[in-house]
Amino acid sequence: MEGGRSKIKRLDKINEYKLLEIAKNISEYAFPGMIVLLYGDLGTGKTTFTKGFIRSLLKDDSLSVTSPTFALVKVYDNDYKIYHVDLYRLSDPEEIPYVGLFEDSEGIYLIEWPERLDYYIPDEYLEIKLYYNIEDMTKRDIEIEAIGEKYKIFEEALK
Ligand SMILES: Nc1ncnc2c1ncn2[C@@H]1O[C@H](COP(=O)(O)OP(=O)(O)OP(=O)(O)O)[C@@H](O)[C@H]1O
Ligand SMILES: [Mg+2]
Repeated sequence: MEGGRSKIKRLDKINEYKLLEIAKNISEYAFPGMIVLLYGDLGTGKTTFTKGFIRSLLKDDSLSVTSPTFALVKVYDNDYKIYHVDLYRLSDPEEIPYVGLFEDSEGIYLIEWPERLDYYIPDEYLEIKLYYNIEDMTKRDIEIEAIGEKYKIFEEALK
């Protein structure tokens, strides 16, 4: 693996508005072929992050972005296509080739429940881990890491 793993940021007690803002800041550094893996328990904000990211790229603050729970993938058209993927209902990684993940080398992929990728996990990606804040149920703690050299640019996005 090129570049290995490097911590970018840990942020605690993030409210929903702030999470949307973080997503926007990251989207400003988005590049074709970018992959974002969103880890976190049910309701921690994976879709919320994706909504902030896609709204920012499409410059549409009222765009409806909901989880593609049954279809697994939802595609948004932009300069580069944006693929919002939710693997919650994927029962077997053998199904991944049928979902058509990572076939668009210029596409941007945001993936909820990336644990389901198993051995299809990409070599390089931006890792976002969301946790419930233990003191306040309306807040989240977030850890962001770059896996691979080219994802280190997101340090700039979060300064
Ligand atoms: N600080 C916060 N950050 C994100 N979401 C928050 C926050 N506080 C409250 N919420 C609420 O928590 C919910 C998060 O839902 P969201 O669909 O983004 O989670 P998810 O991780 O995608 O869940 P799932 O695993 O079901 O896909 C929303 O209803 C949102 O309004
Ligand atoms: Mg979701």
